[in-house]
Amino acid sequence: MKNKLNKLRAEFLEQLAQAKNSEHLRELELKFLSRKGQLSELMGGLKDLSADLKKEAGELANNVKQELQEKFLEMSQTLNLRVSKNSETDVTLPGNKLAQGHLNPITLVQSELEDIFLSLGFMILDGPELESDYYNFTALNVPPTHPARDMQDTFYVDYKNKDGQYDLLMRTQTSPVQIRAMQKYGAPLKALIPGRCFRNEATDARHEHTFYQVEGLLVGKDISFSNLKSFLEIVGQRLFGPNTKLRMRPKFFPFVEPGNNGEYTCFLCQGKGCRVCKNTGWLEIVGAGLVHPDVLRAGGIDPEVYSGLAFGFGLNRLAMLKYNINDVRLFNSGDLKFLEQF
Ligand code: FA5
Repeated sequence: MKNKLNKLRAEFLEQLAQAKNSEHLRELELKFLSRKGQLSELMGGLKDLSADLKKEAGELANNVKQELQEKFLEMSQTLNLRVSKNSETDVTLPGNKLAQGHLNPITLVQSELEDIFLSLGFMILDGPELESDYYNFTALNVPPTHPARDMQDTFYVDYKNKDGQYDLLMRTQTSPVQIRAMQKYGAPLKALIPGRCFRNEATDARHEHTFYQVEGLLVGKDISFSNLKSFLEIVGQRLFGPNTKLRMRPKFFPFVEPGNNGEYTCFLCQGKGCRVCKNTGWLEIVGAGLVHPDVLRAGGIDPEVYSGLAFGFGLNRLAMLKYNINDVRLFNSGDLKFLEQF
């Protein structure tokens, strides 16, 4: 019995040393250590031995069993480790931290506005940044000699149209898409138009050569100033909280009549007066008005039948207010220290 045990031990250890993977280990376990394996079979013969021999052989059998089980466990741990080190899922290594991207503050505010207007049944439209003089100015009631052209100088493209005129420019506002939308979809119409705009002006903390606007346009029957007011109130309350109030003050824009500036109670001081609102309690946020009949006509819509309202938010300014950003030039700076805060 003692010889058989020692032989089994030596055989097992030799084969264990050659095991290459978990399949080999399983085979060894079945052959030697399982309930029907060779060791159990040998130990089953103990009962036939005399009392003296049984004691001695029993002790040896138990020691061999313990040793083989320990060696087996050791080897299976070593092999597991080797397997995981060779594969890409080594659970013992610290994980690779993936760099996580995030949205630009302008995109965040744009998405918020889009959500509000999608819920009000508006469609989201896009338009060209390289625009014609006609769509950017003339069709919006700003003919070539109109003094309002001075308010929005831009970058002209050195390219003559077939009539020999310089006609292409970088759009100064998203308003030209009003005309394009009316021409394409007719009336009734509800559209929200976010987009990038350009102006040739001296830059400072509030003015950039490249910035974003969001235009709103609603054309239908009997659209009135009270519709405009309620739209702007909804936007203010959704953006800045339910207690936000709106005031509308007259302002000239050639493409609306009447035109106004929409101002909201300052979200920081709730209208009491603070640094953000320059102690007025109000923040000027949006240009708006009822669409001028000439603009409806340019869009192919009969102003005797339909009327419309339009408004334009400066997205950079909205983002500046919402996130307390003190210089509009930071948006185009490419400064990661700034961008990574959002
Ligand atoms: C317009 O551009 C009109 N198209 C808005 C409008 C639409 C009025 C529909 C009526 C009906 P204004 O020039 O005021 O208006 O510009 C609108 C907003 O764009 C400003 O309030 C401001 O937030 C933003 N903006 C204008 N110029 C700059 C600039 N240089 N840098 C950053 N933001 C600017």
